[in-house]
Amino acid sequence: MELVTTLKGQTVQNIVREVGINPNHWYPVAWAETLKPEQVIPVVVWQQAIALYRDTDGNVHALEDACPHKGVQLHKGQVMGDRLACPYHGWEFDSAGECVNIPYLPKEQKLPCAQARSYPTREQYGMVWVFPGDPALSADHTLMDVPEYDDPDFFAVPITGHFQAHFSICNENTMDVFHGHLHKNLQGWFDPVLLKLRETADSVLADYRVNYEGWMTKVLGLSEDGGKVTTRVVSVHYHYPHYYSSLEGISSLYLMRLPMGPQETRSFSILFLKLPFCRLLPQALRQPLMRLIRHYVFMPFLRQDVEMMESEQHTYQGNAKRRYVEINPAIIALQRLIVRQHEQFMQQSGAQTSLLINPAIHSSSPVGEAGVLASSRTAIGEPRATPMDTSRG
Ligand code: FES
Ligand SMILES: [Fe+2]
Repeated sequence: MELVTTLKGQTVQNIVREVGINPNHWYPVAWAETLKPEQVIPVVVWQQAIALYRDTDGNVHALEDACPHKGVQLHKGQVMGDRLACPYHGWEFDSAGECVNIPYLPKEQKLPCAQARSYPTREQYGMVWVFPGDPALSADHTLMDVPEYDDPDFFAVPITGHFQAHFSICNENTMDVFHGHLHKNLQGWFDPVLLKLRETADSVLADYRVNYEGWMTKVLGLSEDGGKVTTRVVSVHYHYPHYYSSLEGISSLYLMRLPMGPQETRSFSILFLKLPFCRLLPQALRQPLMRLIRHYVFMPFLRQDVEMMESEQHTYQGNAKRRYVEINPAIIALQRLIVRQHEQFMQQSGAQTSLLINPAIHSSSPVGEAGVLASSRTAIGEPRATPMDTSRG
C-alpha cells in the first residue's frame, strides 16, 4: 500500500517501546568466524539465553543455556564431538538437547528424561543465525537475499553495533533519514526529502532524496569532485526484522538486528561499496582496507547514532508516559509494523496476553511472572498514531 509522504505531526504510541519481538524469524547471533570448532559462547535473543557451539565437524548448534539437571549455564561447558557437556556433573547433551550420557550413571541404568531446548541454526553471509520461535516454522522463513555478498565488484565491510536501547529506537534511527543534522560535522547527507513510502504486511519501504557534498561523495564514488553537491536517492527497506538500504546501487547496507532485551539491542551489518578496483584488490590488502573504512567512514557516524539512541532510551525510562511527536510517516509506519508483528506472534501462539515489559505504562494491570506484565490486548494492524497539530506556532 502506498502511503502519503507529507510530513505531519502525530503522537507516538509508547507501546512500541515495550513490545517484544516476533520470534518466528531468523536472528543473527554471532559472526561465524568468531565461533571456532569445539568452542561454545553465550548469546541472547530477546531474553532467551542460548549456548551456541560449533562441533568437531564444524556444524553449529544452539541449546538453551541452562542445564536440565540444575540449571548451570551450558556455555561454561565443553564440546565433545557433536555433544555439549555440562561443566558441573558432566551430563552430555546432543545437538537436539537430549541428555545422552551421565558419566557416573551405571551403564545398566536408564538415562532420565532430560532435554534442553534446542534451536534451529543456520550459517550464511558470515553470520550464525538462530530461529528462536516455533522450530516447525523455521523452514518457511528464508533469510534476506544479499546478492552483493558473492559479487566481486562489491567490497564488504562487516560492522557490529551494540546499543543500550529498545530495538524500536534502533530501527527508527535507520529509517529516519531526516537526522542528517546529527552528522553534519562528518559531511553526511543534507536536505532530505521523503519521495515515496510503501507499507506491506511485513515491510516498510521508503525512498528519500538526499544531497551530498564533500569527501563523502568521493568515498562513496558519487562524484570525482567533492566540491559539488550531488543529489541521490536512498532506498531504505525494512523487512521485519532486518534492513536493507541502497544508494542507487553504489553502496548498500544490510543491517541485521538482534533484539536482546527491552533495553539492549545488537546489530550485525555489512556495508557493501562498489569499488572500481575491487576485483584487482590483493587478499593481503582487503583486511587493512576494511578496517580503515570501518574506522574512518562508518564508526564516526555509528558513534553519533548510538549516543542519540541511548539518550532517547534514557529519557524514556525516566518517564514511560511522556508523550512524543513524530512527523515522518515512515517512522509511524515502522512503529505500526513492529507492534503488528508482535501482536501477530501473540495471536499465532495462542497467548492471551501482550508482553509488556514496563509496568509504568499499565500500572493498573496485574503483574505476571518474571516481571512480564499481563495486560489486555491492543488492536492489531490499526494505525495507532492520531493526527494532531504539529504545534509549531
Ligand atoms: S548441573 Fe549440569 S550436569 Fe549437573
Ligand atoms: Fe545516523
